[in-house]
Amino acid sequence: MVPEGGRGSKVVELPVQCYTHPRMTRYYFIDTMGCQMNERDSETVAGIVEQLGYRPTDDRDQADFIALNTCAVRAKPQHKLFSKLGELRRIKEQRPHTIIAVLGCVAQVAAQEIAQRAPYVDIIIGPRNYSHLTRAITAAQARADNNPVIVTDTAEVIPEELPAARIAPISSYVNVTYGCNNFCAYCIVPYARGRQQSRAPEQIVSEVEQAVATGRQEVTLLGQNVNSYGEDLPAGCDFADLLTELNRVAGLKRIRFTTSHPKDLSLKLLDAMAELPKVCEHLHLPIQSGDDQVLERMGRGYTYEHYRRLIEAARERMPQVSITADVMVGFPGETEAQFGNTLRAFREIRFDQAFMFKYSDRPGTRAAQMESKVPEKVKQQRLEQLIACQNEIGHQINKELVGATLEVLVEGRDAKSPEKVRGRTGTNKIVIFPGGSDLQGQIVEVKAKQAFLWGFLGEAVGEAWDQSIGSNAY
Ligand code: 5AD
Ligand code: SF4
Repeated sequence: MVPEGGRGSKVVELPVQCYTHPRMTRYYFIDTMGCQMNERDSETVAGIVEQLGYRPTDDRDQADFIALNTCAVRAKPQHKLFSKLGELRRIKEQRPHTIIAVLGCVAQVAAQEIAQRAPYVDIIIGPRNYSHLTRAITAAQARADNNPVIVTDTAEVIPEELPAARIAPISSYVNVTYGCNNFCAYCIVPYARGRQQSRAPEQIVSEVEQAVATGRQEVTLLGQNVNSYGEDLPAGCDFADLLTELNRVAGLKRIRFTTSHPKDLSLKLLDAMAELPKVCEHLHLPIQSGDDQVLERMGRGYTYEHYRRLIEAARERMPQVSITADVMVGFPGETEAQFGNTLRAFREIRFDQAFMFKYSDRPGTRAAQMESKVPEKVKQQRLEQLIACQNEIGHQINKELVGATLEVLVEGRDAKSPEKVRGRTGTNKIVIFPGGSDLQGQIVEVKAKQAFLWGFLGEAVGEAWDQSIGSNAY
């Protein structure tokens, strides 16, 4: 249900009234699960509730507005939501005025189940509908029955004028597209986030300029498939053109982006990455499988050979580029030999890092209907085998960089050792080295001393430098 007023109507911002303690400060707490999209969405939600007068708190038990921003991409995170909701029952009993909201992809795809299993939830709102949050809160405060306010309309066009309370001091996430048109056979995302909506380039440039004006040095552009950016815009701006525009933003040091899709990644984009000095030499390109028949049944729209050629083309243009991927084992019908092709692909390509998953049935997707499901035990064995293979390769790649000078954008103090700072290379490797918080936001040349799977321990080699841009450096 869309709350009264419906789609496209003006959002009226009413001051939030705390019925029990009308003059006290109200607090909000947002628990974000899942991907960077969700992290960015939580900033929007934080921005909205801050406009209503709520302040952030780290103490969930003290919050007057608690939101769980959920992930539905695999069954496990979806189950996590229900155990977290169980904990919130106690809070609602002790502090009945607390508003509990479930946001994100599970809210979209399992709204009725949430309402039935956790009737104390006040608001259930899908990832395209946060412009309705203010009215949903007002409606929830007034509700006298057990029915939550549910807003789950994936056809909604996300408006530009939503606020955001930014968390990270150095780097900002900036959406370039919402939703996805691909419908890979295993994936719930198109059902949860709707069809692709590209933002106008001027809006993206303006958000990036604003990020720089408020002290950010780096942006990460987000889209389910950034390579199809612009296909739904009236005229003439593809993702490479957008990068060219953003490279001109004064004061911005680094541009990252995720996620690319092998069927749509163009040589024009690889050329742009190589030529534009602010664009980081890191390509996250999900492979999903190294077997052509499995790729076909997944509906991915490319072969392993096509994927391999793209990596070659990227490495020809950017010899230092780092390549990361997502992959899945145990897709329905995957044979031992087909899994062997994925292992072989990993050995051939040598990813810097990979996010490796066991296939998980998502109700409503094509793969969920497929026969020959791979037993859990086999999936687990294949996953362990692939992780062992990748760990060896990833560690070896990092070891080969020991002794090299890395350009590290410092993000802040290292949480575990406060006399050290932590940052990332253009190739997205984590580097930790001795230094003070005065280095935050600076690009520092750091010698890699010791290599780990996660990155490096290092030592600064010279003065922090702020002027030039880390073009073809690591
Ligand atoms: N099961 C397991 N992994 C999945 N992913 C997406 N859907 C599923 C699923 N049903 C993985 C893909 C994707 C990443 C974000 O999550 O590898 O690239
Ligand atoms: Fe899911 Fe495929 Fe879209 Fe990625 S491209 S979000 S895997 S449907």
